Amino acid sequence: MTTHLEAIDRRRSRSWLGTLQRLTQPWTRHALISPQDSSLPGEGGTPDVSSLEIITRTPDERKPLIEHWKNMPAQVVAYSGGTYPDGTRYGEGRRLLIGQEQVMDSFEEPWCRATIDKVFQEKRQGPLVVVERGFGLGIMSQLILEQMLSRGGVYNIIELNNTVYKWAREWASRANEHIKPLGINLTIQVLQGDADEIIEQTQEAQFIDILISDTYPLVEDELGINDLLGLSAMTSRLKDEGVFTFFASHKDNQGGGLDEKQLRLTYNHFRRFTVETTEVIPPSDCTYLQGPKKKLPVVLCELPRRA
Ligand SMILES: C[S@@+](CC[C@H](N)C(=O)[O-])C[C@H]1O[C@@H](n2cnc3c(N)ncnc32)[C@H](O)[C@@H]1O
Repeated sequence: MTTHLEAIDRRRSRSWLGTLQRLTQPWTRHALISPQDSSLPGEGGTPDVSSLEIITRTPDERKPLIEHWKNMPAQVVAYSGGTYPDGTRYGEGRRLLIGQEQVMDSFEEPWCRATIDKVFQEKRQGPLVVVERGFGLGIMSQLILEQMLSRGGVYNIIELNNTVYKWAREWASRANEHIKPLGINLTIQVLQGDADEIIEQTQEAQFIDILISDTYPLVEDELGINDLLGLSAMTSRLKDEGVFTFFASHKDNQGGGLDEKQLRLTYNHFRRFTVETTEVIPPSDCTYLQGPKKKLPVVLCELPRRA
């Protein structure tokens, strides 16, 4: 059975979404959004429901999609640098392909760094519990590890794809070997499976300090919201002072802000969120971001709403 989550509360009108979008556009640079903000929200007209429709699936409906992604072949390919017609240079890099999909690329490294710096800025004191959803090329994992060395705690990585999971295990085993002689109280674990399912099955409540989600849409209608569909379970596992971040850019949202569905889901689950941007230069054959230059949203969500 496929259920359709009803579109937003009528009071959260089109004009309200417009306000949120303006606030999170890149030129705002740093927008603080909270329900206490006097510019939010206004009474007004009815939203365009079709553009806001979010399809939710039962675990049984989701199962074949998860199985498919789990078993897809994964490989990392290298590409050469080049020059755009306007003279902008892009560097050589590495790209993760799962099936035929471009899933991650080393040109995103500045975004990974800005995002990890941002979330750890909020959490200077350890020990911390960190959960990362989606290992990919392990770029963020390396940056998270660097931050965790001085803080200690537990760092869990959840990865679905068989091959990428194997790489993540190998990476974590090397990292644990590196940590051992330093006498740091830090444990890195890798779990295999669908991140939403694994978090849903976790018994413990309000234990996560930092939750970083960079997965991939398992099906077209998850585009842009694949990191947000499990937010109810995620926010109930986040501490009150816990923070959440995700990868918001996608082929239909290249503006450096959040799109309407993302705004709606984030607003529904957090009382405060900020969006800054960082610039990247995708290679000319990138399928999900058109160069020469792109601003990627660096999102920080705080104050999880409790049901
Ligand atoms: C964009 S990459 C992550 C990139 C990573 N942040 C990095 O720095 O390299 C997405 C990863 O999420 C994994 N993934 C996709 N859907 C998932 C899911 N539902 N649960 C767990 N992992 C998932 C993919 O197999 C892939 O390895």
